[in-house]
Amino acid sequence: MTSSIATAFDLDILRSRVRDWKTEGLRTALVPTMGALHDGHLELVRRGVQIADRVVVTIFVNPKQFGANEDLDKYPQDISGDRKKLEAVGADLVYVPNNREMYPEGFSSVVSVKGPAVAGLEDKFRPQFFDGVTTVVAKLFNQAGCDYAMFGEKDFQQLAVISQMVRDLNIPTTIVPVETVREPSGLAMASRNAYLSKSELQLAPALYKQMQVAAETIRGGGPRSKAVALAAKALTKLGFKVDYVEVRNAHTLDEVQGENEQMRILAAAWLGKTRLIDNIGV
Ligand code: PAF
Repeated sequence: MTSSIATAFDLDILRSRVRDWKTEGLRTALVPTMGALHDGHLELVRRGVQIADRVVVTIFVNPKQFGANEDLDKYPQDISGDRKKLEAVGADLVYVPNNREMYPEGFSSVVSVKGPAVAGLEDKFRPQFFDGVTTVVAKLFNQAGCDYAMFGEKDFQQLAVISQMVRDLNIPTTIVPVETVREPSGLAMASRNAYLSKSELQLAPALYKQMQVAAETIRGGGPRSKAVALAAKALTKLGFKVDYVEVRNAHTLDEVQGENEQMRILAAAWLGKTRLIDNIGV
């Protein structure tokens, strides 16, 4: 069965739809994605349906946030499958711009955030990533002009960076964080999980388990740096190549200074050719 969900391939159609809804006094929510949708994305849409009258989902694999040796060329894509899923969860419009629409010839602007974007986590390993994300997300916010925008806590640093951008630039869109959706094994849902082999899939939930162990230790008053170092060691022993396991201030993503701060453990590690990221509250 094909999907009949309305789909805009160009900006004029997106704008006129959202304008009509606003004229009718309807509240709108935006769910920016790169497609290959899983239940984590669909949860963003479900939350959007709860808080707004109309939900727009964008699907655009943004070349600016990929490094030269990353997986841009093989990033999973399934537009027709995505449209069916979006229709089933009650999205109202899918916006699928092409590269020319987003980055026409002569495009020469970059939106660059500091603060949480230079916390020494993802930015340390993917130096181009956040400028690419903030540039495309700022464009999508301006293009759609929605009241709300939904982002998953799974990409916790990304959520912090986008929230910072919205505050700093007075963008009139309210950011709505949505909790990470996990497989029954505990593995955080992610489009890149599709790259994992059967044996890697069995091993992958250890990332979440080790973060839970570290969080438990810290909650119990154990030393923070030792707890995360032990998690990294255990993961390495299991066959992960660990980029980082860190405990940070949950708001600024700075190093933790005192005992009374709200904390978050953030981790990134490779299993074979797949890079997994995850985070949990302490
Ligand atoms: O989280 C993602 O899928 C992407 O980084 C986003 C926010 C859609 C920007 O391309």
